This record gives sequence, C-alpha cells and structure tokens, in this order.
Amino acid sequence: MNWRKLRTFVLWALVLALIPATRYYQIDVPLVHFLRGHRIDPLTLHLAGEFVENNLGTEQNSDGSVTVRMIAQQYLFIPHCIVVPAGVPVHLRITSADAVHSLTFNGTDYAVKVLPGTVSQTLFQFPNAGDYKTVCREFCGAGHYAMRSEVKVVPRDQFPALQPGERGTCAAQ
Ligand code: CUA
Repeated sequence: MNWRKLRTFVLWALVLALIPATRYYQIDVPLVHFLRGHRIDPLTLHLAGEFVENNLGTEQNSDGSVTVRMIAQQYLFIPHCIVVPAGVPVHLRITSADAVHSLTFNGTDYAVKVLPGTVSQTLFQFPNAGDYKTVCREFCGAGHYAMRSEVKVVPRDQFPALQPGERGTCAAQ
C-alpha cells in the first residue's frame, strides 16, 4: 500500500467513525439530516414554515401521542413552558435560531443537541405527572447558565380536557 492510499483510507475511516460517534453521544443525529439536505433557515423561523409562533408547543396527534415543537435561542426555549400528558409518546421537534444548544430535562436522561439549520427530533415519554426543569447543557454564550424553562407533565386523562390554548403552552397559566 502506498502512502497516498493509506492517507485516503485513514481519512475515510475518520469520517465514517464520526457518524456513530455523534449517534452515541446524543439521541439524535442532526448530522444525518444535514447530509440529507433537510436544512432550515435559522433567520426566518418566525416568518414561515413549521416553527412559526402559533405552531409551537404541544399538539395532540390522532394516535394519542403528542408532538412538541420548540425553538432554542440565546438564551431561552420557546415556548418557555410546555404541557405534555404523562405516559404518552412525545415527539419532540426542535431547532435553533442561533448557536448550538442542548436541551435536557432535570431528573431524566434525555438530552437533545440543537443546531441552527437543522431540526433535531426525538421520542420520549414521561411516566409520571410532575414539573421538570428544562436546562441547556451546551455552553452557548454569556446567558447560558440562565437558559432554562419548564415542562408540566399532567395526568394522561387530564390533557384532553385542557383548552386548546392551555395544551400548547403553560406560560400563560
Ligand atoms: Cu443554550 Cu446553553
């Protein structure tokens, strides 16, 4: 094997090793979406598309699961407070308006890396009702340590009784 072949081989091995490495590190692999070309413009999130303001928060799906859409930006999560039912699959879709953030729920193992330009998605479930703090765990600037919000997990049978406005976000309650 000559040096040029060896160099090419080593480069490819490194690149290929990166993919499982990111997969292992976080639940989601924004890199894969990125390579597939699923891009989203972080500067126009509020103007059009999936992440406009009235589309954010929790939405009930016909199969009983819910979908939560959020934006992470310096230095807050939008909506600031979300409501989800306990014991139900929660599909989270989140993107960043600026820097790299990492969404975690205190007291759980969930962690989702959030990058500008791509949508991170993950599936999780809260077994019990309760309040959780949402904390950013990726250093994202001067206000990083203040970047936190809340999740209110309500009993499964209570969720459908909430008004549509109360289901989306609990910020106003
Ligand atoms: Cu966002 Cu740290």
